Amino acid sequence: AKTHFHDFVVQETPVKRLCKTHNTITVNGMFPGPTLEVNNGDSLVVKVTNKAQYNVTIHWHGIRQMRTAWADGPEFVTQCPIRPEGTYTYRFTIRGQEGTLWWHAHSSWLRATVYGALIIHPTQGSSYPFPVPKRQTPILLGEWWNANPIDVLREATRTGAAPNVSDAYTINGQPGDLYNCSSTDTVIVPIDSGETHLLQVINAALNQPLFFTVANHQFTVVGADASYLKPFTTSVIMLGPGQTTDVLINGNQPPARYYLAASAYFSAQNAAFGNTTTTAILEYKSAPCPAKKGQSTPPFMPRLPAFNDTNTASAFSASLRSPEKVSVPTEIDENLFFTVGLGLNKCPPNFNSSQCQGPNGTRFTSSINNVSFVLPQNFSILQAHQQGMPGVFTTDFPANPPLSFDYTGNVSRSLWQPVPGTKVYKLKYGSRVQIVLQDTSIVTPENHPIHLHGYDFSIIAEGFGNFNPNNDTAKFNLVDPPQRNTASVPVNGWSVIRFVADNPGAWLMHCHLDVHISWGLAMVFLVENGVGEVQSLALPPEDLPIC
Ligand code: C2O
Repeated sequence: AKTHFHDFVVQETPVKRLCKTHNTITVNGMFPGPTLEVNNGDSLVVKVTNKAQYNVTIHWHGIRQMRTAWADGPEFVTQCPIRPEGTYTYRFTIRGQEGTLWWHAHSSWLRATVYGALIIHPTQGSSYPFPVPKRQTPILLGEWWNANPIDVLREATRTGAAPNVSDAYTINGQPGDLYNCSSTDTVIVPIDSGETHLLQVINAALNQPLFFTVANHQFTVVGADASYLKPFTTSVIMLGPGQTTDVLINGNQPPARYYLAASAYFSAQNAAFGNTTTTAILEYKSAPCPAKKGQSTPPFMPRLPAFNDTNTASAFSASLRSPEKVSVPTEIDENLFFTVGLGLNKCPPNFNSSQCQGPNGTRFTSSINNVSFVLPQNFSILQAHQQGMPGVFTTDFPANPPLSFDYTGNVSRSLWQPVPGTKVYKLKYGSRVQIVLQDTSIVTPENHPIHLHGYDFSIIAEGFGNFNPNNDTAKFNLVDPPQRNTASVPVNGWSVIRFVADNPGAWLMHCHLDVHISWGLAMVFLVENGVGEVQSLALPPEDLPIC
């Protein structure tokens, strides 16, 4: 196994998109940032130097960080932020993970532009459990704002409204030629006739679940979130922010140019949808030369699902299976039920939402089990835990909603206003955990991508409506459920996940729509140490930033 050393300099870089240039926070001047490539079993040492004027941290999304919670990255959870002019070196080893993950800033809305792919090849000397692709291409789906994303968030906070939607979706940082000023920069994915090409698709968008599809070709889905899947074919995949999917594509069509396209899956009915579609071009190398501008035949366009096509989204996630039997705990020690949903701040009786005002003028909020998560300010939760420092968090996170109600029906307004708090839930080392994640229709139902740091979990069932313990347990797949780090909880529905708490530390669980994490749709699991060194958290590194 190898150790890979990298330097990440976080800096402001002028980037031009949609005819406008603005100073963008980047890593090493690149947007998207550098792709890291390792083999399973290797170690990464990444020295981050902050040359920007904002606090920053970097999170290695999906890396299990066994015994190295200090390298996980979410600000005020496992570390204090790296201040301007500060540095911090992340050190961790990849164990038992193969496929596609990514890294991103975990501070305010910086991840809008501070992100990149983290590709984990099979262990040295072994190979994929599918035909070895001739080429591989990371496909990072993202969003672009003409304004600085932090200003978009600030403005939303000031007015108390939801933030403006982005000005473009992007593939590898490029909006594609359906947008103005973007035609010459459209990403080209080359393919030869007969070639098998691996696309490592990552949804790095801030707030947008996305469909991804390709004209006239099929995908063979082979992995997600750095775990392999039983291969199946489909013409469209859906990814919530945070999720990754590995697909093979075969050059078996007449040589030509075909669009790869991502489009919004925004399942809330009547939700604002003011954007078009981002595209890249799959180009057969043997295709007749694209003719000069004005005479070229446009690439073939795929059929895109409608933005509210929940059937396509749930049919896709229902197709995911692990290739073999996986070890899912059959008994559980912790049976948790989490409502995930929106809410409103302080509203007068019989209000309409414009009359609600919370802290700093915020109108909307969100919560898990009616607790709206507030990050601590002066210590990270992990440091406070390790040093036994009181007053930073409380351990009374409710494992179940305060009362049960019709989550997906008409919800009484008395339930619309969650209570803010920095509450964690303690897990004993090795405990077997089940969580029912239940979307609520408070304010509006949504598809919430729920991400757990430090773990992969089995998604053993999904469904619509209210989870019913009497019937729905019959649907549990304890044989070959997919292993993921982010579950797209169906709109007006539920997901059930299981994992074994074998990684000590403070682990954030949150909705990966950044607007929802800023509103409080988050909580922290504190997993206690087990016995001896192998089961305990390592000591904090000496350069860990302090607040
Ligand atoms: Cu990809 Cu807490 O994040």
